[in-house]
Amino acid sequence: MTTDGVRRSPLDEDRLTRLGPALVPGLRVEVLEETASTNAVLTERAKAGAPEWTVVVTEHQTRGRGRLDRTWETPARSALTFSVLLRPTVPAARWPWLPLLTGYAVTKALVADGYAAGVKWPNDVLIRTGEQERKVCGILVERVETPDGPAAVVGIGLNVAMATEELPVETATSLAIAKGTQPDRTGVLLLLLGTLVEAYETWQLGGDPAAERLRASYSESCVTVGRRVRADLPGGAVLEGEAVRVDETGRLVVRTPDGESAVGAGDVVHVRAR
Ligand code: BTN
Repeated sequence: MTTDGVRRSPLDEDRLTRLGPALVPGLRVEVLEETASTNAVLTERAKAGAPEWTVVVTEHQTRGRGRLDRTWETPARSALTFSVLLRPTVPAARWPWLPLLTGYAVTKALVADGYAAGVKWPNDVLIRTGEQERKVCGILVERVETPDGPAAVVGIGLNVAMATEELPVETATSLAIAKGTQPDRTGVLLLLLGTLVEAYETWQLGGDPAAERLRASYSESCVTVGRRVRADLPGGAVLEGEAVRVDETGRLVVRTPDGESAVGAGDVVHVRAR
């Protein structure tokens, strides 16, 4: 039972089995009742030769991996915690776009479903309610070496049915809180997979023009561009200034009194509202 006394329904495996392959041939969804981390499970499957578009989703993730060595745990059936196996053939220099592409695809799905969603660079998905922007989805993309070549395990954690008291931090939200009703998790999963397939296949096959279109579309949905930000860089340095654009390699360009610097990794905080 959840905190509001309502039994949460499980994912509809039959629907996922029927509709998954219609999104892209070969897409197969495996549902696990409980696991520590879907990224860890899918990494093993990738090393054992699993094909592109193998998807592992769990009803209850107990020790999920987050960015910057954080963890990602969610109460049973309250979230969508899943990982998607991709085997990109684009040049290695384009791989850093994968996490951004995923954040863009999730945002696109949520906007299509009526949420005021946007991406915080590089790939946190936020929902705006009134003056507040709160994180609803985290993404962790891990590169895996496999006998069939390098692969990407794209991990997505979306807060769907969580009540306020179940949120891990005050700055988080869930789709249920944002909309005031309980969304159908199976439908949301299919919607997310659909926008991911579309964005990824276009990017993979479209060469330079598609890469530039992705940069434009991502930038439009990125709520960090135009904001004053503070970036805590990996070596401990801190950079503060205005985020002015996202460059060709996916880095965030920040204008400071000393000139422009491109940030490729680290934690970025919005220090002033739009
Ligand atoms: C973040 O720190 O914002 C990223 C969180 C990513 C969590 C997802 S949940 C599904 C997948 N499996 C994991 O172990 N992590 C990712």
